[in-house]
Amino acid sequence: MLKVSELSYSYDGKMNVFENIDFTIQKGEIVGLTGPSGCGKSTLCHLILALLRPSSGRIFFQNRDVFEWKKEGKLQEKIQLVMQNSETAFDPNRTLGYSLSEIGRFRKIEMKSLQEKINQGLRISHLTQDMLSRRPEELSGGQLQRFAILRALLMEPELLILDEVTSMLDPLVQARMIHLLQELKALFDLTYLVISHDLLLLKHFCNRSISLESAKDGAFEDGKRGGGIRFEAFSCYETKKAEGRRLHERIRWRY
Ligand SMILES: Nc1ncnc2c1ncn2[C@@H]1O[C@H](COP(=O)(O)OP(=O)(O)OP(=O)(O)O)[C@@H](O)[C@H]1O
Ligand SMILES: [Mg+2]
Repeated sequence: MLKVSELSYSYDGKMNVFENIDFTIQKGEIVGLTGPSGCGKSTLCHLILALLRPSSGRIFFQNRDVFEWKKEGKLQEKIQLVMQNSETAFDPNRTLGYSLSEIGRFRKIEMKSLQEKINQGLRISHLTQDMLSRRPEELSGGQLQRFAILRALLMEPELLILDEVTSMLDPLVQARMIHLLQELKALFDLTYLVISHDLLLLKHFCNRSISLESAKDGAFEDGKRGGGIRFEAFSCYETKKAEGRRLHERIRWRY
């Protein structure tokens, strides 16, 4: 489904954030992506969404370059990204109902049909109708995160990229969110790329994980590259999904 081929990226044209990355994601997989802060995980997301142009290498979605999909205006229907800070993902001056209804402009979908999908999504996500008339600041972080996922799903994407979506949530809400994502995956035949620093979460949630590792020869401070740090190692490893173990067991174990 997704093929990243010999991908390198540099913001300043001098130092690469990463070099020669190769990996593929098959339809139906849940693939984890991890690596130290600042190694380029979010940058990789923006490249997949064709928001940045690779310095070298290419990204293919269903055998076509992502920039071809973008040119045709179809990339948003194929790939959606949900990020960590859902507070900033919605217009603070608009109600959530308004923000969700804006999907109608992108998808050329009838308002009635969109409304039905929103209602179905609210039910599945354990959100309530009255929340639609609230502004983002009037919801909890976990509720807002579910709204961000719901909005992404209303685009009916095939690949959903989740960039640290559970890191701000307390362990119980995090566990519920993972459970919800598992349900949604089965319901809508989704494929996930899940970015997280939480190796335990990746181990339980993902079929396998990719590590965007840094080989460095300088200090690593505040997630920024210090002088002389080079990012050159990229390794893949498989983490076996622990059969039958549920995330709430992990929470019990941890706390
Ligand atoms: N717009 C930008 N302009 C210049 N440099 C940037 C820009 N965005 C990110 N960077 C730098 O690129 C590197 C990779 O950043 P990125 O946000 O992709 O890392 P990350 O792996 O997602 O980190 P984290 O785990 O902290 O979210 C960092 O050194 C960062 O400072
Ligand atoms: Mg990031």
